[in-house]
Amino acid sequence: MTGDTVLQVRNLAVEFDSIDGTVHAVNNVSFDLKRGQTLGVVGESGSGKSVSMMSLLRLIAEPPGKITSGSAVFLPRNGEPVDLLQLPKRWLARIRGDRIGFVFQDPMSSLNPLMTVGEQIAESVRKHTELQGSVCRDRAVELLEHVGIPGAAERYNNYPHQFSGGMRQRVMIAIAIACNPDIIIADEPTTALDVTVQAEIVDRMQKLTKELSISVIWISHDLGVVAGIADVLMVMYGGSVVERGEISRVYSHPRHPYTIGLLGALPKLGAAQKRLVNIGGSPPSLFSPPRQCAFAARCPWVFDRCKAERPPLFFATGSHSEDPSAHGHVTACFYDLEKDRRRDPDETGIDVTAFEVGQQG
Ligand SMILES: Nc1ncnc2c1ncn2[C@@H]1O[C@H](COP(=O)(O)OP(=O)(O)OP(=O)(O)O)[C@@H](O)[C@H]1O
Ligand SMILES: [Mg+2]
Repeated sequence: MTGDTVLQVRNLAVEFDSIDGTVHAVNNVSFDLKRGQTLGVVGESGSGKSVSMMSLLRLIAEPPGKITSGSAVFLPRNGEPVDLLQLPKRWLARIRGDRIGFVFQDPMSSLNPLMTVGEQIAESVRKHTELQGSVCRDRAVELLEHVGIPGAAERYNNYPHQFSGGMRQRVMIAIAIACNPDIIIADEPTTALDVTVQAEIVDRMQKLTKELSISVIWISHDLGVVAGIADVLMVMYGGSVVERGEISRVYSHPRHPYTIGLLGALPKLGAAQKRLVNIGGSPPSLFSPPRQCAFAARCPWVFDRCKAERPPLFFATGSHSEDPSAHGHVTACFYDLEKDRRRDPDETGIDVTAFEVGQQG
């Protein structure tokens, strides 16, 4: 896992005011994204996946939402690093769709129903690149071909309602790729599609983004889909990152009880099947500030410390591991599942200002 960092998020926290009290939707989220890397973000509904990623571009409603702490340093290919959370909103509007593209679950709400699909892609090309005139049209046709639309030149003239759901989602991907962004954030982009279409889109997206060295944040609650596309997996629970690491490592050696539960619920994972844990109980309340482990109430390994302190991130594997994929694998758990024992109270968590996948402290 090498390469430059394109996004460095540290200690992001987001709250919402509601009539029932303050919702602590995102707590202390930190991660790095490398150029050309795909980060899969998984977790159950309400775990803070969308809010954490949308708040990077201030796409949450403020108020009731509020980013209460953190930084998100974006390091574009061409240009100076900027902290997205400090930028005036009008600058962010320029970064959105230009340097950082979004693909949402429902393409119909993002596409203009009165404009042909081709024109919408061509417009994105015109707006975000140096290209002008009919070249933009040619580029749009080429992009339609790239995302797998048969008869692209004719399909250029169709309106969104003449496309199937899967084809519309491909169009959204074409629009996102059109401006050759540094990052694409895809929020459950294939959830509404049937499995075969899903697999094909994942495959295309992976090829295109790798070719162009575009980094991708792929949000999903489907571990199977994420397995097909991500290099690094980040598991969220109750608004926090509970585990993160190279995807093959996390799948083969899950080290947070919640991840083990998630993998246990996934068929066809061989060894992980044996670890099947039934995740009983209900999701955590986000109304109280995070002063204990959010998973404590549902955890088979819980002990008194978990209810008294919020676990920081620890390295999941001892620092002498020879397997490079284990490096940077972190888990927010006071129970060391690697050694099958409670962590020593002296064992300190990781300084997130310095951590990244591929490094071992
Ligand atoms: N406008 C809002 N007002 C109050 N609470 C909100 C608002 N938007 C989001 N939240 C809360 O923030 C938390 C995180 O929501 P988020 O949408 O990030 O979850 P998610 O992980 O993306 O879930 P899903 O898989 O359902 O998309 C949830 O508890 C949600 O209720
Ligand atoms: Mg969501």
